[in-house]
Amino acid sequence: MTIRSVITACGGYLPEKIVTNADMEKIVDTTDEWIQQRTGIKERHMAAADEKTSDMAIAAAKEALLHGSYKGEDIDGIIVATCTPDNTFPSIAIRVQDALDIPPGLAFDVQAVCSGFIYALSVANSFIQTGLARRILVIGAEKMTSILNWDDRATCVLFGDGAGAIVLEADEAAQGSLEDRGVLSTHLYANGHLKDLLYTTGGGTGNNDKPDHVMMEGRDVFRHAVQYMSDIVNEVLEHNHISPDDIDWLVPHQANIRIIEATAKKLDMSMDQVIVTVDRHGNTSAASIPLALNEAVRSGQVKQGDLLLMEALGAGLTWGAALVRF
Ligand code: UT7
Repeated sequence: MTIRSVITACGGYLPEKIVTNADMEKIVDTTDEWIQQRTGIKERHMAAADEKTSDMAIAAAKEALLHGSYKGEDIDGIIVATCTPDNTFPSIAIRVQDALDIPPGLAFDVQAVCSGFIYALSVANSFIQTGLARRILVIGAEKMTSILNWDDRATCVLFGDGAGAIVLEADEAAQGSLEDRGVLSTHLYANGHLKDLLYTTGGGTGNNDKPDHVMMEGRDVFRHAVQYMSDIVNEVLEHNHISPDDIDWLVPHQANIRIIEATAKKLDMSMDQVIVTVDRHGNTSAASIPLALNEAVRSGQVKQGDLLLMEALGAGLTWGAALVRF
């Protein structure tokens, strides 16, 4: 018997406030032209001062439950990918469980920064395949604007806030073939030697006299992102004995349109088969893939039975990919 974890519902949440590149020009020495040319970003959403990561995670999760006609009691696991929790503890997953009246079951956060959703999806898939849970809410939620240095033009123009959620459900009737709906493979990596390319200055217990700000060696991260994404999509193809032609949609992490285009080119995929939200969302870290998926499902682009390749890279460096039959 093969158990597959099927994505049966999705939801998303973006804060009301939109910050355009023209707005950014008033904050730092930058131009709309530079931001668009180098990143593809036109605008991003920004959470209100009193709007927390948990608020966004709860809103996205609520929408996913509604989409799948689920009640809180139908869920037996919650995994949230975030690097911007409300507090050190309890986790965002616990706050979602409380807010949505989800009965006792597993609930915890995963911290793999921009790769967090792929990591969370992989963990949830393993739990479902081993029978530890049957229906898991997997959420990516971030308030990245709370950890930006608004004097650093090299980073503050890049990020945005939001949350995306899916419900991952066990299908015990799967045949064990490529045609099955569900997660077909996941691939996770990290290279700790590259930890100094992207990090935050404060937070936690290491440097708590400093403000918690994102620092990035953008050019180096870019170089590694292009290489690692190219390597990992090849690995997904080889592992599943498929060719790029078999893939219906690339659903990439949304950090930079140039990285996305490089991966699509590697796969010989037209940009018409790539879900792009970076222009409107900026980089929402762990929220970017589930937000992109939610948009693509709601717009009717991604349909049941489509083969999706998801991939992401983030601080660590961490990176990962998943092949999913939607
Ligand atoms: O999601 C987590 C993973 N993160 C990523 O994947 C991000 C990877 N990196 C990138 O996307 C790109 O490296 C950036 C978008 C961050 C930067 O683009 P770049 O083409 O690599 O630019 P750069 O860092 O090489 O900077 C080029 C120039 C510099 O000026 P000089 O030294 O050439 O005179 C920067 O000071 O652009 C300058 N610059 C800016 N100019 C206007 C940097 N930021 C800005 C800005 N506006 N906002």
